[in-house]
Formats: sequence, structure tokens, C-alpha cells
Amino acid sequence: MWESAESYAGRVPVLEIVENSFSQSENLPPEDMLFSHRGILYPAILSSPETLEALKSFETRSDDVILAGYPKTGTNWLGQMVRDLESTDAKYTEEEMEERINAEKKLETFSRLEFGDPGIYERMKKLPSRRIIATHLPPHLLPPSILQSKAKILVLVRNPKDTAVSYYHFYNNMPVLPSFTSWDDYFSAFMNGKLAWGSYIDHLVEWNKYIDHERIMMISYEELKEDPVLGIKKIAAFFGFSLCEEDFHRIAKNTTFQAMKEKSKETHGKFGDILFRKGVVGNWRDLFSKAQNEEMDQKFEECLGGTKLAAKMKYDVYCRA
Ligand code: A3P
Repeated sequence: MWESAESYAGRVPVLEIVENSFSQSENLPPEDMLFSHRGILYPAILSSPETLEALKSFETRSDDVILAGYPKTGTNWLGQMVRDLESTDAKYTEEEMEERINAEKKLETFSRLEFGDPGIYERMKKLPSRRIIATHLPPHLLPPSILQSKAKILVLVRNPKDTAVSYYHFYNNMPVLPSFTSWDDYFSAFMNGKLAWGSYIDHLVEWNKYIDHERIMMISYEELKEDPVLGIKKIAAFFGFSLCEEDFHRIAKNTTFQAMKEKSKETHGKFGDILFRKGVVGNWRDLFSKAQNEEMDQKFEECLGGTKLAAKMKYDVYCRA
């Protein structure tokens, strides 16, 4: 039996993809790093308009595990927790695990549904079940088969101020994205949705429409930070993974920020130093000015005030100055 879920991450083909995408970006002028598709920006090295068109043809399986979250809400963390849960539950043999890893290698891209060449959706048909499919897209931009199928969707949210700060550093450190000269310029781009994957507030507004959907569960970065074991148990119950108490604690221990950062050279290569930055709640206090705080508070109130999602996100606890 496959015993060590934690070493799974070291065997997925992230390293080569990181190297390739970083070297491609060396010769790309900043103005060519993003492309616009239906009014939303995406990174040109990782996706293309043709891929986003082909995305409509993606065929969902009813047992697919779908993970959705705007960039920098903790999607890599959640992905690792869910991979560990899924492989522990499935009790794969060494051979089955090898087969899964080889099938993933053939995708030749980072594991985001909207990444890669247009042929990726054909190659994804060859992935063995259960597939774990991660995306940064909001519901109205997902391929129709996802919402029509019986597949369950876990939506990850993070307080918008920390998400903004995290994305700022990511934009400036990630070679495939154009840098900003100042936090103030970046902040207005964030508020106006002029970043890859568009406006985070719009993204939340769209997911809020699905908050009572029986096949969708929302979880927040902050609740996972506060009580990871409880969060992992909720995720397991939602997807029907059955694990013992010891497994939950092992997975929580293997997926702490520190543990993932320490392993990141092996699991993520150069990308690890960019991805595992601080991993805390409240880092926004270092960068937001008084006026920016008020602007965000007002925008959140206007767009999401009084909604179930706002209550779930505990905006007043995590975002008020
Ligand atoms: P910071 O930049 O605030 O540190 P994503 O995976 O969606 O790109 O999100 C990245 C954010 O999640 C980064 O936030 C990163 O540090 C944080 N993160 C990554 N792994 C984490 C973990 N195991 N625990 C807590 N936060 C984590």
C-alpha cells in the first residue's frame, strides 16, 4: 500500500514546469505577460485564449474533487491537504500511485484547470479517478459540465486585505507576471480587477450566489489556520473521505506552513521561495493606508455586506482596522 502521502508532493512534476515557465518569461516584455479573455486578464505563459475556449469541452466526472479559489487564497495549501486526504482514503498501491503520477506528468502544466495548451482537456480524460481539479475561476466562467455534474466543489476564501497583500508580493516576485512599481498602483489595479483572474470582490459575489448549493462547501483560509484539524475533518466529511483521528493529525502536521516551506525546494523548486511567503493572518496591516482600508471596507460592504459569505469570512474580525 502507498504509505506516505507526504512524499507524493515531491513526485508530482512541478519542478520542470517551474523551470520552463520561468525561462520562457525571461524574454517576454511585461506588456505581453497577460492576455485578456472576455474582459479578464490571464498569464500568457500559463494559458491562452484557445485554451480558455477549449475549456468548455472539459468533461466532469461525478467523483471529481473540485477545488476553487482566487489566487493567493491558499489554494496550494488546500490542494496538498486534499491530495493527502484523497490518497490516504483510497489506500493506493505503489503501482497505482505510480500510474497516477505518470498520468499527471503527461499533463505538462501546473495543476490548474485553465492552464496549459488546448489539448489538455483530452489528456485530462486519461487521469485516473478520483481526479483532483483545481481552478482559480469563479462559477460563471467554469465549464458547464462542472455545475451540471454531481461533482462536489470546495470553495476557498481568504480575507480580501491579506489576499491583496499576498498577490502584490506574488506579482512582484513571480517571473511570469509583470511587476508593479508601487503598492499604491497595485492597490488600484486590485480594486479595479485589473489583475490576472480579475476582481476578487466580483469573484466572491459570484460564489456567494452558490453558498446554499448542496454540492458546494465554502471554507476560509482563516478557519484552516485557526483549527487545521477541524478544517481537514470538515473537508473529509464533505468529500466522503474516511480517515482515522491519527490521519487527520498527521495531515495537519504535514501541511503546516513551516512543514510545507521546509519541503518546498524538493516539491516546488524555485517557485517554493515565491509561494511560501509568510502564511499568516493580518499581514495587510503592514501595507494598507487609512484611505485604502476605508475604500476596501466600503467596497466589501457595498458588494457583500449582509451576505452569508461575508458572515462566513468574518470580515469584521479579520479586516477591520
Ligand atoms: P502569503 O503571501 O500571505 O504568505 P496560493 O496557494 O493560493 O497561491 O496562496 C498563497 C498564500 O498561501 C501565501 O500567503 C502562502 O504563504 C500561503 N500558504 C501556503 N502554504 C501555506 C500553509 N501550509 N499554511 C498557511 N498558509 C500557506
